[in-house]
Amino acid sequence: MGKGYYISKHLATAAMVLAAIALVTIFALSVVYNREKSKNTAKFSNATTSPVFPTPKTSNEPWDKYRLPDTLSPQYYNVTLWPHLSVTAPAIKTSWFQTETQYLVIQLEGKPKPGKDYWLYTEFTGELADDLEGFYRSEYMEDGEKKKAFLCFDEPGMKAVFHITLIHDLETTALSNSQEIKNVIIDGTAITRTIFRPTKRMSTYLIAFVVSDFTHINAKDKKGVRIWARKRAIEDGQGDYALNITQPILEFFEKYYNTSYPLSKSDQIALPDFNSGAMENWGLVTYRETALLYDPRTSANGNKQRIVTVVSHELAHMWFGNLVTVKWWNDLWLNEGFASYVEYLGADYAEPTWNTVRTSLRGFFTNVPGGLERSKTPGVKLPYSVHEIMNCWILQMGFPVVTIDTRTGNVSQKHFLLEPEAVVDRKSEFNNEWCVPIKWMKKGQVQDQLWLLQKSAIHKPMKVSKNEWVLANLHVSGYFRVNYDLVNWERLLSQLESNHQVIPVVNRAQILDDTFNLARWENITLALRTTKYLLHEQEYIPWEAALRNLNYFFQLFDHSEVYDAMQAYLKKQVKPLFEYFGTISSNWTTVPSVISFVDNCISCPISNLEISNLYHQFFKMLYCTIRVVIHPNLRSTVYCDAIAAGGAEEWNFGWQMFQKATVAAEAVKLRSALACTKVPWLLNRYLEYTMNPEKIRKQDATSTIGYIASNIIGQPLAWDFVRANWDYFFQLYGTGSFTFSRLISDVTNRFCTPFELSQLKRFQKDNAETRFGSGSLCCEIRVIQILLQNVLLKDTTAL
Ligand SMILES: *[C@@H]1O[C@H](CO)[C@@H](O)[C@H](O)[C@H]1NC(C)=O
Ligand SMILES: *[C@@H]1O[C@H](CO)[C@@H](O)[C@H](O)[C@H]1NC(C)=O
Ligand SMILES: *[C@@H]1O[C@H](CO)[C@@H](O)[C@H](O)[C@H]1NC(C)=O
Ligand SMILES: *[C@@H]1O[C@H](CO)[C@@H](O)[C@H](O)[C@H]1NC(C)=O
Ligand SMILES: *[C@@H]1O[C@H](CO)[C@@H](O)[C@H](O)[C@H]1NC(C)=O
Ligand SMILES: *[C@@H]1O[C@H](CO)[C@@H](O)[C@H](O)[C@H]1NC(C)=O
Ligand SMILES: *[C@@H]1O[C@H](CO)[C@@H](O)[C@H](O)[C@H]1NC(C)=O
Ligand SMILES: [Zn+2]
Repeated sequence: MGKGYYISKHLATAAMVLAAIALVTIFALSVVYNREKSKNTAKFSNATTSPVFPTPKTSNEPWDKYRLPDTLSPQYYNVTLWPHLSVTAPAIKTSWFQTETQYLVIQLEGKPKPGKDYWLYTEFTGELADDLEGFYRSEYMEDGEKKKAFLCFDEPGMKAVFHITLIHDLETTALSNSQEIKNVIIDGTAITRTIFRPTKRMSTYLIAFVVSDFTHINAKDKKGVRIWARKRAIEDGQGDYALNITQPILEFFEKYYNTSYPLSKSDQIALPDFNSGAMENWGLVTYRETALLYDPRTSANGNKQRIVTVVSHELAHMWFGNLVTVKWWNDLWLNEGFASYVEYLGADYAEPTWNTVRTSLRGFFTNVPGGLERSKTPGVKLPYSVHEIMNCWILQMGFPVVTIDTRTGNVSQKHFLLEPEAVVDRKSEFNNEWCVPIKWMKKGQVQDQLWLLQKSAIHKPMKVSKNEWVLANLHVSGYFRVNYDLVNWERLLSQLESNHQVIPVVNRAQILDDTFNLARWENITLALRTTKYLLHEQEYIPWEAALRNLNYFFQLFDHSEVYDAMQAYLKKQVKPLFEYFGTISSNWTTVPSVISFVDNCISCPISNLEISNLYHQFFKMLYCTIRVVIHPNLRSTVYCDAIAAGGAEEWNFGWQMFQKATVAAEAVKLRSALACTKVPWLLNRYLEYTMNPEKIRKQDATSTIGYIASNIIGQPLAWDFVRANWDYFFQLYGTGSFTFSRLISDVTNRFCTPFELSQLKRFQKDNAETRFGSGSLCCEIRVIQILLQNVLLKDTTAL
């Protein structure tokens, strides 16, 4: 599943057959699982507590419980949807909606007999709202339309066959999970009925329907791959890249899983209004436009990289998740964790020249359970069975930080916490100890792996002398952080500065990432010092790690006196790299084949780099003649700089370009650039636009506010704006949408004074927890981060 996707089902007509397994007087239908999930997980009282599992209410009635009764199981559903149809509601006497648990309860007069099949025929009318939830309406220049609705036993383990029929206008096309078998024009009307093959037995959350006037391209092959999008986008060739990669990725996974693709077709469709990145509906995968469409003329390398990983992730789910499914949502992590892992393998297969992807993962391969099980090669000795080893990783929360003292050879572990003072009140049967396989090297030489199976142990070979250094978690093959004694850190730092290539590229990224994450509570000076060697670094992964971590500091300090110094420093560090890429791209006229590095590099918070000046001129030219083409990899920076330097005229021009943009990736760049202006009234007007769906699409409203909040002038404006319009945003996005939690986080990102903190706390208090939805969790985390920031601020000013 893409992040934060959820289904709510407003209903059309549905018929279903049920088998009664035991005597029941009542059966119930769960309609929404996300509400339940968010209810159960949003109540974070302590930063580190884990999700609360459904607590049965005192009542023993099935409709007061969160889990469905196992006395009825769905066999198949016949679903007919007629999106424009208006039908009267059924007059069932004893039926009601149990709001708390989201049950539709239908009470029967008699008792169903065990072993018999029963029919439930329902007719529903649901509003085709544009709220991006479940069954919704989406309009674009070309009237794309998406439908999603049905009534069901909504637990992933309750699989059934679906017979789906869609009734729709003649000029539209209907798609669903299985192959369409026929289109019949209904007599005397201008309406088509599209009938689909029965699906395989499948979970309800993977059902999708789309009725649209989209068009498609397809591959000449047996997998039935089709790419669907707005006509204009397809005609522009924006689906070509996705088509190129989908087939190879499917083939890759067939080999990887040693199981052929389970379905007869594979549709990928780009939707103009889509709340998450993508959703792995079986056979009909839905994407945000930016996650599927690629226009070589305007999209940057980074966009391409995103497409290949998202497509790969969703296709991985066709087997893992869809064919084989978790019984209930508490194991969802496995589904997502696995797909997030193999997405790189698929992506790497489709784009083998992007070595960086492979490099970043080479290490991980050897330590996944499958890898362990398969590695019956001589020489691999496991201290326990795979089962036991895995249990200590999956049956307790979190992961460890391993500390190595190279003066004594003492290796110890403890639960890694971003905030060390946090109270962990969830008991762990493993006592917060992990079975840690430690691959390591000493002064560039790979050593024998060791297993840390207790709190601490003395490992003599790790006691080093003179100028030897130890580097643990080689190739980042284990899931843990590493800390060392200061002497070893110093030696690692000097190794990085003298010859960084002795340390594998992934470990260079690891050093950066570990020190920054440990820095939040230990040593910020050390973390900042790890960035010194970047002067020599040309690889993507370490830079990515550095910029991601530094970005946090930039946001933190951009209104303090250290900001100038930090910016000057980073500019100096990045300059050689920039020149290197200037050379290999012939002065930015060609796209270096190296993965999206430039993209990432320049979207980092260095605004006054030399290039900016150069490209200011480009923007001026652009202003006169729209035809001047700015290289896609540079556009984000150029647009932002130009709008920041300009006034209303430039802003309005950017706004026009945004409205005219036909490529989603381009529109995103402009939308984010418009937030760069330094003129407060423009920012305020832009904020107002986020409440007007004709100006800013609903799916983009919260991220637009986030862009504005990341501008130092926009931040207080965005904060005031969100507070003033809290009810509006809460109603629209507050119930279950994951994007919503980012809203608070985005607008308060820079908060670090006690005054700001108290503002945030007061706001949270004023809006009692229940009204915070998914925002409340985030708010808690922010409070902690802000406290930390206070500490860090003092620390760095003293630097
Ligand atoms: C965290 O939980 C502990 C124990 O349940 C409780 O005493 C403490 O007040 C909680 N802290 C916060 C910040 O809610
Ligand atoms: C459901 O649809 C299938 C296929 O169209 C049909 O064979 C079956 O009889 C239908 N069942 C009901 C209860 O309408
Ligand atoms: C798709 O593949 C074809 C054939 O290999 C190639 O010519 C074309 O450039 C590719 N399109 C994209 C957008 O990568
Ligand atoms: C793949 O599956 C086939 C048949 O299911 C089996 O015979 C074969 O051993 C499997 N290959 C691997 C590498 O597991
Ligand atoms: C090793 O380090 C851990 C954690 O600092 C400590 O608790 C333990 O006593 C040390 N062991 C020895 C033998 O010094
Ligand atoms: C932090 O690390 C630096 C080395 O980079 C060291 O000089 C300093 O003493 C360390 N501070 C603490 C508190 O450990
Ligand atoms: C890039 O531009 C610089 C300065 O304008 C010039 O000296 C250099 O020859 C150019 N390099 C290439 C490869 O075009
Ligand atoms: Zn997923």
